[in-house]
Amino acid sequence: MDFKEKIRVIPDFPKPGIRFKDITTLLQDGEAFQAAINTLNDFARKHDADIIAGPESRGFLLAAPMAYALGKGFVPVRKPGKLPGETISQEYSLEYGKDSLEIHKDSVKPGQKVIIADDLLATGGTIGSTIQLFEKLGAEVVGVCFLIELSYLNGREKLKGYDVFSLVQY
Ligand code: PRP
Ligand code: MG
Repeated sequence: MDFKEKIRVIPDFPKPGIRFKDITTLLQDGEAFQAAINTLNDFARKHDADIIAGPESRGFLLAAPMAYALGKGFVPVRKPGKLPGETISQEYSLEYGKDSLEIHKDSVKPGQKVIIADDLLATGGTIGSTIQLFEKLGAEVVGVCFLIELSYLNGREKLKGYDVFSLVQY
């Protein structure tokens, strides 16, 4: 499957000069969506993970179907103030300012193996703070995977020591 061909590139979105990688065209193609989840799960299966986690919101679109197909648990990593139980949070830097992500304190048990899935690796800020959240709870992040990796932003450098997999690179 040529996944790159299924991803639409939209020039000048959300601002001039940015070539936005739009995954909706891949998701709306049933065969491509299924093949993408299957390929990500070939990676996840190597690690015998207990939990598949995804950061809000586009990470949900991959991590939840991956977990379902594997018969494993899904854990949502959410933007602040959304989770109702006791949470821990982790800040990360954006181009301008900061943001943070949260998980429930009881979302994983110490020693559990976690795979994190997201649509896109850009600067690595999102995935870096997601990794920190699970490690704070004593879980082991055994792999991180993406549909798309923007190699020119060097996000992978923030992920040294982790097994990183991406379906498509730009
Ligand atoms: C986008 C994308 C990744 C993240 C990648 O999410 O879905 O999660 O940015 O960028 P980074 O590697 O520089 O952190 P965004 O925060 O735009 O939110 P969304 O998933 O809710 O659309
Ligand atoms: Mg996102």
